[in-house]
Amino acid sequence: MAGLYAHPDYYEIAFDFRDVAAEVDFFETCIDRFGDGATDADSVLEVACGPSPHLLEFDARGYDFTGLDESSEMISYSIEKARENDIEATFLRRNVADFYLPERVDFAFCALGSLYLDSNDALRSHLESVGDSLTGGSIYCIDGSIDFPGGTSSEHEWETTRGDTTVEFRIDQQPTNAAEQLVRQTVTTKVTDGDETHRFREEDEIKTFAPQEFRMVVEDSDFEHVGWFDSFDLSKPVSKCEPGTLHRPTTILRKQ
Ligand SMILES: C[S@@+](CC[C@H](N)C(=O)[O-])C[C@H]1O[C@@H](n2cnc3c(N)ncnc32)[C@H](O)[C@@H]1O
Repeated sequence: MAGLYAHPDYYEIAFDFRDVAAEVDFFETCIDRFGDGATDADSVLEVACGPSPHLLEFDARGYDFTGLDESSEMISYSIEKARENDIEATFLRRNVADFYLPERVDFAFCALGSLYLDSNDALRSHLESVGDSLTGGSIYCIDGSIDFPGGTSSEHEWETTRGDTTVEFRIDQQPTNAAEQLVRQTVTTKVTDGDETHRFREEDEIKTFAPQEFRMVVEDSDFEHVGWFDSFDLSKPVSKCEPGTLHRPTTILRKQ
């Protein structure tokens, strides 16, 4: 795999801005508030885990961690991170659209808009895979990946420095097919690492999911839609937020 996803150490610097502990607080609140509470959740699956930024926090709170990603570099990096921290975790190189877990888990999440799927059929298959991986009454949280603005183009860029390394990151989305709701997502990165400079670029064509379209697919699956909340905050239901002000809207589903 070319691009930044083949360089997990630089990826981690680019996404250093997150408050991972606060995100895990939110996930635990969702489990307590919306899960069926029949069992104490003690195992978690991260879908499209990348370098597994939540691994240490979940492990410190007593969860068994499973991460799944299609990038062999990300999986190798996560395995090494677990080994260095003396954590027993499971990492699988799989496509999010269709996978199988040998053992069920009590919670699943997908962070940072990582549901790269190309059709509604792929979304159905994804929900079936996650549903088969979860115990009944468990919660699945999806950060991003729902197109609330609706078919618009977008551009975001930022710069992060750690030690001698600076990562300039840019992500663009341009609609390519209005009828199929496809967008081309381009990620360009410039890394200045001491005296060296590296440039990475990757493009993916992905399908966007309008909120009510997503909900209809969910209603046809083993999940029920619990709600949408912005900024990892249950006091901010998306239905009460001003359109255009959403920061990181999160979808909460419950396995029936
Ligand atoms: C933006 S990163 C997010 C990583 C991590 N979830 C985080 O919060 O930092 C997206 C990840 O999705 C993975 N990915 C993209 N498409 C995928 C697919 N179809 N199946 C599995 N993983 C995929 C990439 O390899 C990358 O690691």
